[in-house]
Amino acid sequence: MDKYLANDKRYEKTEYKKCGLSGIKLPLLSLGLWHNFGGVDTFENGRNILRYAFDNGITHFDLANNYGPPPGSAEESFGKILRTDFKAYRDEMIISTKAGYLMWNGPYGNWGSKKYLVASLDQSLKRMGLDYVDIFYHHRPDPDTPIEETMAALDLIVRQGKALYIGISNYNAEETAEAVKLLQKMGTPCLINQVRYSMFERWVEESLLDTAEDAGIGLIAFSPLAQGLLTDKYLNGIPDNSRAAKSWGFLKENQVNQALNKVKELNEIAVARGQSLAQMAIAWLLKDKRITSVLVGASSVNQLEDNMAATDYLTFSKEELNEIDEILNS
Ligand SMILES: NC(=O)c1ccc[n+]([C@@H]2O[C@H](COP(=O)([O-])OP(=O)(O)OC[C@H]3O[C@@H](n4cnc5c(N)ncnc54)[C@H](OP(=O)(O)O)[C@@H]3O)[C@@H](O)[C@H]2O)c1
Repeated sequence: MDKYLANDKRYEKTEYKKCGLSGIKLPLLSLGLWHNFGGVDTFENGRNILRYAFDNGITHFDLANNYGPPPGSAEESFGKILRTDFKAYRDEMIISTKAGYLMWNGPYGNWGSKKYLVASLDQSLKRMGLDYVDIFYHHRPDPDTPIEETMAALDLIVRQGKALYIGISNYNAEETAEAVKLLQKMGTPCLINQVRYSMFERWVEESLLDTAEDAGIGLIAFSPLAQGLLTDKYLNGIPDNSRAAKSWGFLKENQVNQALNKVKELNEIAVARGQSLAQMAIAWLLKDKRITSVLVGASSVNQLEDNMAATDYLTFSKEELNEIDEILNS
């Protein structure tokens, strides 16, 4: 592939929003590498997606120790592309990784102990060829490790210079408030909570949106398209190359079938707005000022292009919002 030179106009193409009360701004859309960047995927396709993202103003790239498959391979592929294409642009990027799910055998390769988090980040840094990540997340709360230990591990990692900022993921409102308080005391403020939020998954609306605002932290919404359900791709069945058709994908055929009627109705509203359903689903999340960024996945450049155009039209009428709620609550 040709030598990569980033587009000069990349910062004219997207908006950046303050992450809570911190000094960091994130793009309205960020790119996640959970699927499509593993050892089972086509390397050059992932590379093209990353180039397109960066050329169009996406500065935030989200990984985790276990992304692949096989686990670790997304960080390895990303590391390779960083070396070949993005070396000159490292300081223009916010790179995040996480630990909290199963990564290696035995009692120290999962959940939230200091032992696991510190060792896992060391491994991630090696795989990506980085000295530090910008955000290190605890991937999910651990009911068996005192939250004080997990937060102390995150604080240590920042003091060691291995991460600039700390994030939590999948923490509910109470867990978030507790984590924020502990980190504050240690002098390493929590930057952000990464949570599943889409038209189909609205639990954060109960209280987390308010808690995050009160705590002055950002929120980044993952799986905003419900893994592809909130697009037009399943309207006429399950395409061969879709996530729902892949043996390693986390989206199952029965989830597609269950959602289909609502997807069809939502698609009609999107078409009437002159948007794709994917664009409307992203815009619907960004209408809330407490959402800092929407963390999309993409298996092709075309999908990412479609998703990024969501920001061309972010407003909704009251009638549209009511109609959407009616469909979602039916
Ligand atoms: N913290 C956590 O626990 C956690 C959990 C899950 C995800 N995440 C993060 O969130 C990121 C995004 O998650 P996600 O991949 O589930 O997000 P998503 O945006 O809901 O789904 C992405 C998938 O939808 C399909 N798609 C995307 N744009 C499309 C379009 N315009 N038209 C048709 N299909 C489209 C593609 O699947 P096909 O392969 O079918 O084309 C794509 O891979 C992950 O990469 C990861 O960084 C975090």
